[in-house]
Amino acid sequence: MTIPHDVVALDRTLFSKELNLQADALSSLARASFESLRTGNCPGREFTGWFDWPMTHGFALEQEIQTWAKSYKPNYDLVVVVGIGGSYLGAKSISDILLGPGDSVLNRSGKKIVFAGQNMSESALGDLLKLMELKSPVINVISKSGTTTEPGVAFRILKSAMERRYGKEVAAERIIATTDASKGALRKLAQESGFKTFIVPENVGGRYSVLTAVGLVPLALGGIDTKALLDGAHAAFEGFKKPELSGTAKVALEYAQCRTAAWNAGKVNEVITYPEPRMRNLVEWLKQLYGESDGKNGKGLLPVSLECTMDLHSLGQYLQEGPRSMMETFLAVENPRNSRERILVPELNHNTDELKYLENMGLDQINDAAMKATRVAHAKGGVPCLEIRTKDLSPASLGSLIAMYETSCAVGGLMLGVNPFDQPGVEAYKTSLFSLLGKPGY
Ligand code: PA5
Repeated sequence: MTIPHDVVALDRTLFSKELNLQADALSSLARASFESLRTGNCPGREFTGWFDWPMTHGFALEQEIQTWAKSYKPNYDLVVVVGIGGSYLGAKSISDILLGPGDSVLNRSGKKIVFAGQNMSESALGDLLKLMELKSPVINVISKSGTTTEPGVAFRILKSAMERRYGKEVAAERIIATTDASKGALRKLAQESGFKTFIVPENVGGRYSVLTAVGLVPLALGGIDTKALLDGAHAAFEGFKKPELSGTAKVALEYAQCRTAAWNAGKVNEVITYPEPRMRNLVEWLKQLYGESDGKNGKGLLPVSLECTMDLHSLGQYLQEGPRSMMETFLAVENPRNSRERILVPELNHNTDELKYLENMGLDQINDAAMKATRVAHAKGGVPCLEIRTKDLSPASLGSLIAMYETSCAVGGLMLGVNPFDQPGVEAYKTSLFSLLGKPGY
């Protein structure tokens, strides 16, 4: 599949003259940071396996996973993914966009993908157990460390329910574990129980792992075109190999320069504004990517999300007139529709509802106008605004977008002077919880 190298474009016209100048002045630093990433000479180099992943391992792995998924014996209509943070957000964001959220009324594939292990809520897990009783579920439990409390507890409960229903042996056929190649409790449990396993590569951190088995296995089980996803990512990574960066690759570096310029100028938040409810978890993935990569040593923009137009009627006021402490990035989509059917504002023979001026316009057209109008209003209110525009939300475009964001985030973190690939703060919380709950050794 040939993917254009300019799937993603950056519009800086409303980012303010001063910040644009400061961003341009950071181009050598961005280039040097990028080169240190590309050549494996940056801080955290042991976790840069995600860069150029489709070419190095991804395509071969994708083929292996699809071949396995196509011949997978158990009949199933429900894929329960158990994981937290980087072990679920990538797959969740892609499946929400391509299949519709698991809890939506109309799921577009015959198979539903749902997610567990992101909380300690008895009622949430209780609802899932009820749903599983009505369906034919399989479970993909994902944990790099194999010891994270939330997915560990959820998996123990869900596995027990599966064993009660199917018996131990058949339940084991319906469970797939994705974890470290040799370490951790989940690896041990999988070996003892005979689960099919896939590996989380040692040199890829959770939030950069969506194109590894962490994302590919649940997406393949859900019937998503994972090859197209990798094709899109590959096209973007190929762009980074050219001596002169253009298209998506150029966007990655320029976006890192703009964010760094905003931070240097005293901004503390980046509001990410998006137009589609089904993109909500894509932005959750971005919040994890940026929050965990940048937020160290007292540095980093706090990523915040704003759904257009819903949040304009709540956070919109703060954006327009609150403290000028943020920059804003609009994540726009040229053609967001996932079907050919359009929904237009109907023509009526009266104007009682005062909406005649919108007749025959598509909702997407009105939504895009709302994104543009908001950008203009917020920029006038003193918020420096960027727009990242992607062509559509196809698997290939999502692949390009993921590669662009991962690279841009890594480059931006290196420009800030932090290691963008570790997450000591998350580990601190995990250790503190172990200690509070009385785990031996803590
Ligand atoms: O990015 C990260 O590494 C973390 O957010 C992890 O993904 C998250 O804590 C889950 O960890 P694990 O996969 O070890 O269960």
